[in-house]
Amino acid sequence: MAEELIISQHLSKEEKYKALIPQINALVMGETDLIANLSNIIAALKFGFNWLWVGVYFVKNDELVLGPFQGPIACTRIKKGKGVCGTSWLTKKTIIVKDVAQFPDHIACSSLSKSEIVIPVFNKKGEVALVLDIDSEKLNSFDEIDANHLSEITKLIATFL
Ligand code: SME
Repeated sequence: MAEELIISQHLSKEEKYKALIPQINALVMGETDLIANLSNIIAALKFGFNWLWVGVYFVKNDELVLGPFQGPIACTRIKKGKGVCGTSWLTKKTIIVKDVAQFPDHIACSSLSKSEIVIPVFNKKGEVALVLDIDSEKLNSFDEIDANHLSEITKLIATFL
């Protein structure tokens, strides 16, 4: 396992993903524990992009429950269909919110959050097992580049379920 991540803050978003994803793969190599790997993946994303909040919510019965994260303290439970995370779980789709003020059901865990992306992680039965949630302090931070590269990361996470 690498001891530290190497990522220049001067790279474009695409270049950052291209630099970071191989390092994330190396970081989890040889470790199978879901929580250990999630914790390091989340730390790597937070460090690489300096987003406000990066973390996961696990599907537990009829709710999402907070898992490993980096950033400000967060809501612990979210109902299915509620907020961006609960909507991603319900629809099984990645959701990009360019301005959280325009998403009627957005749950504001932090008033600093301005835009958000949520990507579902599927188990082998094709059910949503958890969602990866990333929040930014800037409007319009996420687009298809993030959705595509982050879906590589959620597929990696799925291998540890
Ligand atoms: N904003 C999310 C809630 C989780 S926090 O952002 C960490 C939502 O609307 O689902």
